[in-house]
Amino acid sequence: MLINFTLNHKPVSIDIPTDITLSVMLREHLKLTGTKEACEIGECGACSVLLDGELVNSCLVAAPSVMGREVITIEGIHAEDGGPNDLQRNFIEKGAVQCGFCIPGMVIAGEALLAIKSEPSRLEIREALAGNLCRCTGYMQIVDAIETTAKERAEKPNLSKRER
Ligand code: FES
Ligand code: FES
Repeated sequence: MLINFTLNHKPVSIDIPTDITLSVMLREHLKLTGTKEACEIGECGACSVLLDGELVNSCLVAAPSVMGREVITIEGIHAEDGGPNDLQRNFIEKGAVQCGFCIPGMVIAGEALLAIKSEPSRLEIREALAGNLCRCTGYMQIVDAIETTAKERAEKPNLSKRER
């Protein structure tokens, strides 16, 4: 089946089997391996992506269902120069990245939260991460990174996404 959609701000056209998930299409057919697969049953959030701006577990999304829609993966989140954006830098600086398996999904979940809530409380950040499991960090540094990014963005509200 030929499907057309927008992937990380660029149009994509790809011929895929109809019975695969979005995570398989991203990783195996499009070679975007930043999206991780772990539980494959919607429990861990490692496969998180944005679908039309909404946080979804791509292991639960049928690949053909993204026809005509917009998908953002971790590869689509970066600064203008292609390096880490402010949220990703804060993950690094706060020590929020340990093994890193959960981190792409955590960053995606963080961006999804900050898109709808400019200054979330720590409780709201924890609730937003409820579907993303990390076995390494204890979550505190991850919450710190998202909280710091929210504060920095609030101090510079006119900063465009590309300038972060
Ligand atoms: S791999 Fe999709 S939620 Fe765990
Ligand atoms: S950093 Fe290892 S699972 Fe989160």
